[in-house]
Parts: sequence; C-alpha cells; structure tokens
Amino acid sequence: DLADRGPDAWLRMVLRKSSNDRTADDLEIIYEELLHMKPLSHLSNSMKRELASVIMFEAHPRPGSVVFEQGEEGRSWYLVLCGSVDVVIHGKGVVATLHAGEDFGKLALINEAPRAASIIVREDNTHLLRVGKDDFNRILRDVEANTVRLKEHGKDVLILEKSQGPHSSVKYVVMACTPARMVEHLLDSRLDSGSIDPALDDFLLTHELSNDASSEGWEEAALMHRLIIFRVYCADHTYCTLRLPVSATAEQIKVCAADKLGLRVRPEDLILAELKSNGERVNFRDVEVSVPTSLSLNGRIFVAPKDHLDALTVIAEQEAPTEGVELDLEDVSAKEMAYHMTICKQYHNINGMFALVLGLSNMAVSRLSLTWDKLPSKSRKLYMQLEATIDPSKNHRAYRGVVSSMDSPLVPFMPLLLKVIEDPPTPKNESEVRAYVRCLRTIDNQRTLTSLSQKLEPRRS
Ligand code: CMP
Repeated sequence: DLADRGPDAWLRMVLRKSSNDRTADDLEIIYEELLHMKPLSHLSNSMKRELASVIMFEAHPRPGSVVFEQGEEGRSWYLVLCGSVDVVIHGKGVVATLHAGEDFGKLALINEAPRAASIIVREDNTHLLRVGKDDFNRILRDVEANTVRLKEHGKDVLILEKSQGPHSSVKYVVMACTPARMVEHLLDSRLDSGSIDPALDDFLLTHELSNDASSEGWEEAALMHRLIIFRVYCADHTYCTLRLPVSATAEQIKVCAADKLGLRVRPEDLILAELKSNGERVNFRDVEVSVPTSLSLNGRIFVAPKDHLDALTVIAEQEAPTEGVELDLEDVSAKEMAYHMTICKQYHNINGMFALVLGLSNMAVSRLSLTWDKLPSKSRKLYMQLEATIDPSKNHRAYRGVVSSMDSPLVPFMPLLLKVIEDPPTPKNESEVRAYVRCLRTIDNQRTLTSLSQKLEPRRS
C-alpha cells in the first residue's frame, strides 16, 4: 500500500533502508529516480548506479532543525531535494540560503577540516539526500570536488580549485578570496599537512590584520569596488585602456579588452596572461580577480587567442623605463641616499634593508670593481657585513642572528606579521622622494641590467 501513496513515498521508503537491505528492485527504483534528478545530471550513469546503493534520504519536517553544526567533523555530503536550508556562521549569522538542486558539506570532506558553517533547515518538509564521506571519496570526489565555491550574501567569498600536487596527490588552491575569508580558510585547512597554500606568503605580506571586524569588511568592500585604470596589450603591442573595479574577473577583463581591441575571437578561445619582463608568461584563470594589482614588477597584461600565446613578446618599456620621471635618482645627493638606506636599519626595517642589499649585490652592480674600489675600505667592510646577512645558507642563519639581536618592533623580511613603526624624520624633499617611490620605474630584467653594467665597465678580456 506504500505504492498506493505515490511513487515518492515508495522511493523515500527504499532510500531509508540501509545499503545492505536494498534489493535489486530497490536499487533499480533509486537508479531510475537518480537519472531524473537535475542536480546529478552531470554524473555518469555508472556513478548513479553506484550512488543508488549508498545514497540516503533525510527528511526534516520542521524549520530550525540542525543538519550539522559548525566545528563538527564532516561525515557526509548533502543535496537539497526540496525545501531550503540556511548556512549559518558564528558571529556572522545566516550567510547564504541553499535551495533544491544545491549541495553543501564538501568543504570539510575534501579539506579534512571541521565544518565551516552550521546548516539549519529553513522550510517545512525539507528533503535532503546524503552521501557518506567514504562513498563520496570513492564515487564523487573526482567529479564533485574540482571546484568549491562559497558564497556569502550572493557574492563569492572563497573559490578553491583542485590541482595536482606532488606524487599524484591532490591539493586545493585558493583562486579567489576575501582577506577575512582567507584567514578563516588558513585556520581551518590543515597547515600541518605540509601543503601550504602558495597564496599564504603573499597574503601575509600584503594584508594588515585588523581587530575591528566591521571596519575591515568595509575597507575590503571599498577596495574591491575601487575602479582602476590599466592597459591590456595585444600580440602586436597595440593596447586598450580599461577602467574596471578591482573585483573584475579575468574573464570580464578579457571580454572588455577583446571588444575594445576589435578582436573577433570567442571569449572562450582567448587567454588573458601576464607577460613578465623576462618573457615568462603566466595565464590568468577566468575566475581570478584583482588581476591588474597582482602583476609583478614591469609585468604587463596581454590578451591573445589561445593558439597565439607563444607569439607574445615583451614591449620595450618592460625592459627599461622609457618615460621620464619627475625626480631622477641621480639628482639626489649621495649623502641623502645614504641616509635613507641606513634608516632602514635604524628603524628595524629588515625588509627594506634586504631590498637595498639585494639590489647592490646584483651581478650587474657587484661586478663594477672600479666603482667599488672608490669606496673607503671602512665602508666596504661595513657593506660586506650587511651583505653577509642575506646569505641564505643554514636556513638563513645570518638573518636570524640579526633579527634576534634587534628589539621589536621590526619589519621582518620573512613572511611574518607586519608591525607598525614610527614615521621617519622629515627629510628636506620628502614629498619628492615619496612621489618618486610611488611611481618608481625600475629595470628588473637581468639581461638589460647586465648590458647596462657592461656599458659602464666593459668586460675585461
Ligand atoms: P562544510 O564546511 O563541509 O560544511 C558547511 C558547508 O556549508 C560548507 O562545507 C559549504 O558546503 C556550505 N557553505 C555554503 N556557503 C558557505 C559559506 N559562505 N561559508 C561556509 N560554508 C558554506
């Protein structure tokens, strides 16, 4: 008589049976049903057959019932069949609502992390399908776990993508993320597993952490909505200038650039890439944001059809600054230069100090023996001591020695949290120096540097 109450009741009954109790007929019924379920349409039929024996039905008649709580261990992956659930995070409240056809709960499974949110039933008679962790890993992980995209209030806050780790292992790379979410992700994901996210260094070095959560959110929103102006180049070095929010994705930039440049190529056949001054190319993925602000020194954004990428060549200004600058470094007196260089040390700005020493120890400069010979031997010695601190051997032992001999606060060279230090005393032409530094034009191409160096002091034969 269950059958009389309609196919749904029948199906629910068999879906409640444990795997072992399901008969061949039961499995057939479930399989037939899975074939028609939209949210599973991207799975192969053989996967659906496998799922038929393990997928479970879970009914939540009343709103407010808890599917699982934030912080718990992840045991299953879920699909909403009908009704809806709220995603609730401590201290934030409801960040998203999921409806029929949407899934949840894979983050904890793939990251081996605690549940990132609680899931609370929102509507009467919400029906879920559930797949246990082991079955998820066996049947679905390869397909389902390619991308994890989390939204808060309709906006993406974290996008993870699967990539190949060493020894055919699999790891997840953050493709896009808000700073607040990055902190949570880092705390949640298992840093001790040895697979530290490559974004970690950049993140720690470039983001001040604020205790004031509310203002942080606003600042971030303001930053991401800020419009910036940047150029996108074609293979023939023609370019267009775009004005887009920092939050624009690589895909949006691609489409705008193609339109302005009159490229008659479908967006999916185009690639947006950074070309570094040494000719190295890094392709952007469509979902990446903050593209123009992520460029390396002298890097430029190019757009090209997929099969023309190898034809991209650096533009002249990437190799050496062409436009004039307001203030020429050579106009600054040697004394003043020396003052600014030593002030890094005085203010415990090891990062700044290292940048200067690394610049001077570049082959193009260090080989200028005639020039170095002009230095008084006392200064040479002093400089050699400084240079010894950038020696990376024995796990940066020299560096660690310097750090431990300094009182905090200091600005570390390594990715450690930045601390605020006092402003330096005002030099005469501070504003000019600041202006110079702000639009610093630098040569970072080693080939160019070496040939300039050889012009100064030709190679001895
Ligand atoms: P998991 O951490 O396993 O458990 C909570 C789930 O909620 C999480 O996986 C995601 O699948 C889902 N979810 C949806 N949106 C969010 C969000 N903004 N933050 C965290 N989890 C979310």
